Amino acid sequence: MSDTVYPAPAGTDDSIDATRADAAWQRAASDPEGYWREEAQRLDWITPFTQVKDTSFDEADFRIRWFADGELNVSANCVDRHLATRGDQTAIVWEGDEPGETKTLTYRELHRDMCRFANVLKTLGVKKGDRVTLYLPMIAEAAAAMLACTRIGAIHSIVFGGFSPDSLANRIQDCDSTVVICADEGCRGGKRIPLKANVDKALAHCPGVEHVLVIRRTGGDVSMTEGRDIWLHDALEGVADECAPEPMNAEDPLFILYTSGSTGKPKGVLHTTGGYLLWVTKTFKEVFDYREGELFWCTADIGWVTGHSYVVYGPLANGATTVMFDGVPSYPDHGRLWETVDRLGVNILYTAPTAIRALMREGDDWVKKYRRTSLRLLGSVGEPINPEAWNWYYRVVGDERCPIVDTWWQTETGGILISPLPYAIDLKPGSATKPLPGVQPQIVDAEGKVLDGATEGNLCLTDSWPGQMRTVWGDHDRFFQTYFSTYPGKYFTGDGCRRDADGYYWITGRVDDVINVSGHRMGTAEVESALVSHVKVAEAAVVGMPHEVKGQGIYAFVTLNAGVEPTDELRTELRQWVRNEIGPIASPDALQFAPGLPKTRSGKIMRRILRKIAENDTGSLGDTSTLADPSVVDTLVAERIG
Ligand code: PRX
Repeated sequence: MSDTVYPAPAGTDDSIDATRADAAWQRAASDPEGYWREEAQRLDWITPFTQVKDTSFDEADFRIRWFADGELNVSANCVDRHLATRGDQTAIVWEGDEPGETKTLTYRELHRDMCRFANVLKTLGVKKGDRVTLYLPMIAEAAAAMLACTRIGAIHSIVFGGFSPDSLANRIQDCDSTVVICADEGCRGGKRIPLKANVDKALAHCPGVEHVLVIRRTGGDVSMTEGRDIWLHDALEGVADECAPEPMNAEDPLFILYTSGSTGKPKGVLHTTGGYLLWVTKTFKEVFDYREGELFWCTADIGWVTGHSYVVYGPLANGATTVMFDGVPSYPDHGRLWETVDRLGVNILYTAPTAIRALMREGDDWVKKYRRTSLRLLGSVGEPINPEAWNWYYRVVGDERCPIVDTWWQTETGGILISPLPYAIDLKPGSATKPLPGVQPQIVDAEGKVLDGATEGNLCLTDSWPGQMRTVWGDHDRFFQTYFSTYPGKYFTGDGCRRDADGYYWITGRVDDVINVSGHRMGTAEVESALVSHVKVAEAAVVGMPHEVKGQGIYAFVTLNAGVEPTDELRTELRQWVRNEIGPIASPDALQFAPGLPKTRSGKIMRRILRKIAENDTGSLGDTSTLADPSVVDTLVAERIG
């Protein structure tokens, strides 16, 4: 099935066809300076840059700088510059948790809301370079808050509303935010999420936070701490409608977004102003072939990078109309996405394989009940899409009419790097196809030897692109060590990848200790440290396992303290514990009590063996003779869950 090829359909006169795509690729490779100088004209610069690319991945002169002497403002690019031509065009369509609970905001209204929000931040003492943490549902105010930060040069750090108070506290502390913006509560699938109450718990550990700005979403009861907490609607009283955009250097920080890695606590990925904005502006326009007047719907939450780049910044910088969805695909029923597509007239839908698989399981009738004739293009992001899900998306959702862009990228890359340009390349279900212009992937083996032609190995990028992250907040050395030390001179993505004889790339998944659960990244080390923080747990090892809907599930092996009885109640308690410590997405799908873990004589846990057990691939455990006690493996295999 994966060998099926779907020829690229014809686009419009403005679409990038195969000839144009090829020319762009050649130009970007042979004349990067000239190519990027021209591309950067997509943005409005306050002070034009004279330098274009100044990058090196080598340790001796490691640096990543783009357009380094230019000045611009992100909010001005996303809003102000559209006012003259499309002030009355809808910028944001907000769709609430309940179907039809809809609100629209024109560019002019967004401009006013953003400026007023920025003025409120100023009155709270927020200045250029200060960090502001956002812990919000998918409400239009969230976009206004992001833009307001960029207006005055504050750095936003958005924490996904599904994270626990502890996770929130860690992220606030790591970047020393002085202001937190939250809502009273969120609504998801008919349930309330106590956002403000979570902030209150988190702030018990964050003495540096001076103010909490609270947005009324549900009207639910919350407690307000005098002198610290302010309702947004009160703060907005009497505030001016105008706020001049702060000129920012292209390399000034734009936002921090925490993401999980293979070791330690989540890292604050830092993106900067010029390069990031250019990358999302260009990729939004080209990958989705966005056309004037179209309605674009990316279902991601702004708590993840996809929400940053393709709900807010990419669409708005292009003057597009973007949907912000505050609900879930399964509420009130499994037809929600298609009902919403019809009601709003959505032209481009960008969602995750996990959602596609979950809906596919519910049967075609939920989809077919709706017309979906407005759809022109479908997108996928976040994890490998299996050909079966791809075909269902193509056949049932898109009626074999809409090309699918399977877009590979990462929090670190800022925007899409490997993806079809839908009117330029033939599609193969399950392949992200080929790199975009300016993107230079390379596949290497474990030792770093470059593998040519049709091959499989580890995916690296040999040169910089403007949207690349610039550092790990507060730990530049960790940035270098994590991404550039494994294969010197290259950026290592952490992904495995196959390239076929046609030069198509097939991402096979993470090759490090990161699990991709429903398209969300989770570090095994984080889940392990949550488990061992429980008084009854002596040791824990966490690995990924195949999961029909989530892509990967979390499989935990837990060794209890001596004398503690392994019971089903304790298993439930431990899963709940992880939920509370990190958030629901980290809760183990399977939790096996392990009297002992397979360790080498030097005490290192052999995860390779645990992975095989979790995958139920116990026929190929490999050599276990180097283990300190090979018999533990037999016990683990015998007691495997599932
Ligand atoms: O393993 C890859 C997978 O998601 C990882 C990045 O996760 P995150 O930083 O949370 O960003 C997700 C949204 C961009 C990658 O290292 N991934 C993302 N997109 C794809 C993918 N794997 C296969 N195909 C994709 N289209």
